[in-house]
Amino acid sequence: SRQSHIRNFSIIAHIDHGKSTLADRILEATQALTKREMKEQTLDAMDLERERGITIKLNAVELTYKAPDGETYIFHLIDTPGHVDFSYEVSRSLAACEGALLVVDAAQGVEAQTLANVFLALENNLEIIPVINKIDLPNADPDRVKKEIEDVIGLDASDAVLASAKTGIGTEDILKQIIDRIPAPTGDPDAPLRALIFDSLYDAYRGVVVYVRIIDGTVRVGDTIKLMATGKTFEVIEVGVSTPKIETRDALSVGDVGFLTASIKSVHDTRVGDTITYAERPAAEPLPGYRKMNPMVYCGLYPIDTARYDDLREALGRLELNDAALQYEPETSEALGFGFRCGFLGLLHMDIVQERLEREFNIDLIATAPSVIYKVKLTDGSTVDVGNPSEMPERKYLEEVSEPYVKATIMTPNDYVGTIMELCQRKRGDFKNMEYLDDNRTNIIYDLPLSEIMYDFFDSLKSSTKGYASLDYEMDGYRVSDLVKMDILLNGEKVDALSVIVHKEFAYDRGKAIVEKLKELIPRQQFEVPIQAAIGLKIISRSTIKALRKNVLAKCYGGDVSRKRKLLEKQKEGKKRMKAVGSVDVPQEAFMAVFRMS
Ligand code: GTP
Repeated sequence: SRQSHIRNFSIIAHIDHGKSTLADRILEATQALTKREMKEQTLDAMDLERERGITIKLNAVELTYKAPDGETYIFHLIDTPGHVDFSYEVSRSLAACEGALLVVDAAQGVEAQTLANVFLALENNLEIIPVINKIDLPNADPDRVKKEIEDVIGLDASDAVLASAKTGIGTEDILKQIIDRIPAPTGDPDAPLRALIFDSLYDAYRGVVVYVRIIDGTVRVGDTIKLMATGKTFEVIEVGVSTPKIETRDALSVGDVGFLTASIKSVHDTRVGDTITYAERPAAEPLPGYRKMNPMVYCGLYPIDTARYDDLREALGRLELNDAALQYEPETSEALGFGFRCGFLGLLHMDIVQERLEREFNIDLIATAPSVIYKVKLTDGSTVDVGNPSEMPERKYLEEVSEPYVKATIMTPNDYVGTIMELCQRKRGDFKNMEYLDDNRTNIIYDLPLSEIMYDFFDSLKSSTKGYASLDYEMDGYRVSDLVKMDILLNGEKVDALSVIVHKEFAYDRGKAIVEKLKELIPRQQFEVPIQAAIGLKIISRSTIKALRKNVLAKCYGGDVSRKRKLLEKQKEGKKRMKAVGSVDVPQEAFMAVFRMS
């Protein structure tokens, strides 16, 4: 039967171990695309993904494979992101599969996110096929990596495929193992429909396009379907799959991974993780769905042009549909006007969302410094969540302030254990445990304040270990800390969008650093601008931006025209990302500087 010939799988890996490249080889082997159509890393469709060389959104394709045994198989390949910010997307795609290819770089070996992804796959009861990739590299050491897979992960690696996604070595073997080892889907095609929504996007012509994995039943064009979470019903207009060309079909049945449209207009009706069933003959129970993801980092996003507030709201609505982890609500800032407080899974996620808003929707934005959520107990016994530093109540009303901690697992060659512990200590870390994984690798486990690892922790870790250490972390509750709100005053006026929460011990140093940095970043104005950092009413640091004396062009002594033009253009460029705060023009970098220095 068709169902017994379906194989649904994902590719999981630590970042950069070669998932997307391997996906390309599989597309090629199944002749999904002719060589001419084949662009490098086809599955990374978004421009941003191609430019940054990372996978952000999951993508699903249907492939037809004529196996050497003469049988024809249908593969559904679901690509997943590798960065820790996007592990949410990974668990979503794994819920739509029966198996996973575990790609491990033959030179780098097992890394922190290799482990984290394996755990996600095991939670979803997936059959895992180890693939040791990049065996073409001169420093590849497949035997060592096999041993690591067995010792560190605890998977049998005796049948691990040795592959080079770059040259194509091992691809046939991978396809064979997919057929032999990954079970076919087991649902009942005649049962009431149960389709898991794992993604959706908005299309101006077709309305919401919903991506589904069919667990039970069959969905046909013309069926009336019901979304179980909201109870809303729609008539199916179109069903189909991506091969990766869009192909419409009459129906999707058990095991299929594809899309449907049903003139769904509101982005809020198709919640990712929800179950679609028949309106007339509904399933008794929805599918388990997904664990809800809570944002870990918040920031304010404000349109530079205040007239574009409604456009920004619209754009966030569109993105939210496509990015279930994004949250937002309106907020106002005295300094910046009307905008939104947005929640993200991490800094990379925040960066990507901001860039997508600017690129896909053409809205220039000011982003305020990212902040974690503080849990605040007030003297009257009540508690509040504070995700915006400027809303931190005055000190006299505070009973205690708690901040989020993460449990960080750092996997490293033994040589760097000392360096890493120093770094963690400096970031207010609390040493928990150390595990020797094999002869030359150690897992170091620290509890760290989320706010401390948000900014440059990952970069510091990489640079102090020559790139060898890898990081994975999970939220680990809240702890009381000695935190204070620091305000920044420009020209004597408190700028709410520049307030930060800092640990009391570091307040003076950070106040000083921030004031100095702002002095550097805020351009001279027509008048002198004092900058102050204050805790409550107490000024802890101050500096002054001198008044503008001469025109920038005066520097050029009239000679070089092209140099003058460049300078003017540079000035214009700078202006674009400048926001008038009271009487002072403040550039975007200033908002970020507060964060970097704190
Ligand atoms: P994310 O999607 O960002 O998680 O990364 P990824 O795991 O998909 O990695 P990707 O396929 O983008 O590969 C990362 C880098 O490794 C790219 O520069 C690839 O060209 C390179 N690469 C992938 N496979 C091989 C291989 O077999 N041999 C060699 N030498 N390089 C490879």
